Amino acid sequence: MTRKVTKAVFPVAGLGTRFLPATKSIPKEILTLVDRPLIQYAIDEARAAGITEFIFVTSRGKAALEDYFDDAPELEASLKAKKKTAILEELEKTNMPSGAIAYVRQRKALGLGHAVWCARRMIGDEPFAVILTDDVIAADKPCLAQMIEAYEENPGNYVAAMEVPSSKISAYGVLDCEPVTPNTVKVKGMVEKPPAEEAPSNLAVIGRYILTPEILKHIDDAIASKTTGAGGEYQLTDSIAQEIDAGNPVYGFRFKGQRYDCGTKAGFLQATVAFGLARDDLRDEFAEYLADAIGMQSAAE
Ligand code: G1P
Repeated sequence: MTRKVTKAVFPVAGLGTRFLPATKSIPKEILTLVDRPLIQYAIDEARAAGITEFIFVTSRGKAALEDYFDDAPELEASLKAKKKTAILEELEKTNMPSGAIAYVRQRKALGLGHAVWCARRMIGDEPFAVILTDDVIAADKPCLAQMIEAYEENPGNYVAAMEVPSSKISAYGVLDCEPVTPNTVKVKGMVEKPPAEEAPSNLAVIGRYILTPEILKHIDDAIASKTTGAGGEYQLTDSIAQEIDAGNPVYGFRFKGQRYDCGTKAGFLQATVAFGLARDDLRDEFAEYLADAIGMQSAAE
């Protein structure tokens, strides 16, 4: 029987240099889309997929992330006294049961594969999910839940995948693959951040993974033999590719939904606009403002 996926790893040790100076004193995962930090979107998606154990791979300067998921007794008492029940309910949703979140440190920024490997003892011998908080995906059914459904039907390693323009492909893990079902491809090879002319396709890996524990052994081997990949880092992509070489299945999953690359400023702004327009309490005023702002810009050109 396929083991249920109940653990998710959140690699949140990155420095967030693209968002300096903001990230000088706050973790990038706390940057907010409207009024919720990126990490909240990631956690909500994991919960909706049935994840019950959350493993954060952190680094120096990420204490704000740990506080975020704690009770805030003074704040809660003051909201209660002022009868601000709606906000109180929103706030309570951010509390996590004791013991549900574990934190482990990545001491050096040695790559995504290394970050996941740092969580190996907590993952143990179970399949697990990985969520990259930079990739925010708006979808009717959350992306990870879609993937877990596919995994339960047909077990193996899964990476979320979508087509990206050639001009951007070198920023991604890229799949060499063949179609299996309308939304699943069988991966024959994968390469991390290839130059556009060497990319095997336009199908890029997006930051959602379901992985079998064998992946950890491949990362183990890479670290033991100091075999690094693109950028001199231990790449998760390379260890997943080794699973293919070992004859185990790796699938690319074309999820349904709109993905925003919140690791870039342009993507973050796009997500802000989309999430702002999706909110009943903001839509009308914000849409009117945007129409005016665009009108003014076209007039000035
Ligand atoms: C990471 C992965 C890459 C993947 C990307 C998705 O890269 O290494 O394979 O395509 O996330 O966002 P990063 O964006 O951390 O450089």
